[in-house]
Amino acid sequence: MAIRIILLGAPGSGKGTQSARIQEAYGVPQISTGDMLRAAIAEGSAVGKKAESFVKSGALVPDDVILDLIRDRVAKPDAAKGFIFDGFPRSLPQAEGLDRLFTETGMSLDRALLIDVPYERILARMTSRRVCGNCGAVYNVITQPPQKDGVCDRCGSALVQREDDTVETVRHRLDVYEANTAPLIEYYRKRDLLSVVPGDAGVDQVFRSVQEILGAL
Ligand code: AP5
Repeated sequence: MAIRIILLGAPGSGKGTQSARIQEAYGVPQISTGDMLRAAIAEGSAVGKKAESFVKSGALVPDDVILDLIRDRVAKPDAAKGFIFDGFPRSLPQAEGLDRLFTETGMSLDRALLIDVPYERILARMTSRRVCGNCGAVYNVITQPPQKDGVCDRCGSALVQREDDTVETVRHRLDVYEANTAPLIEYYRKRDLLSVVPGDAGVDQVFRSVQEILGAL
């Protein structure tokens, strides 16, 4: 099934977790600007150098850098059948840039899914998150622990804590979300493209809600 969707939601709402499930079930790639930026920083590429200080402090990377990344990424062959945007767009200029890209390429958006989690739940989720330093799989020491402490179930590499998952940086990221990204909820609602997924439930239950929405497309 060809699907082109956006996952909206606060930091830690479960966008990455659900994108991985959707990718597996529907065979369309997850396009996470956060993962792309972290990879660019690790490589020390030009984009990585531009992005590093923004990502570390939890601020938004400039819109032109992000739109260039997206334009290149959606031109890759695996995106021809569709994609899941995870963490993009994140500001009004990015949403407008995406609209322009869709117009130029003749593609269209099927749905924007808002994973809705109360902010008070977010801090606990983020500070207990662990990620695989090799394959990027996401765990949570409380709600989704790996089988062996500190070791990735998928590839056996060490799990690490993201540098921007400190209490102070998460608080800042939530402020940035509220100011820049939350207005996109209305942007897509007005276009009749928004679906709200109750995200304060177990990972399987949240995925069932996602599947109901995608099944109706
Ligand atoms: P990014 O990597 O996109 O971070 P984010 O949006 O803040 O989202 P997260 O990855 O933190 O959380 P998530 O919603 O994916 O939750 P997850 O599934 O991991 O961006 C990082 C930075 O890059 C930004 O701050 C910015 O600087 C920059 N950036 C990225 N994109 C940009 C853009 N477009 N423009 C400008 N700058 C950009 O889950 C969180 C935890 O909860 C995990 O431990 C998980 O196991 C657990 N969990 C998940 N679901 C559940 C559940 N249902 N119940 C219980 N626990 C759960």
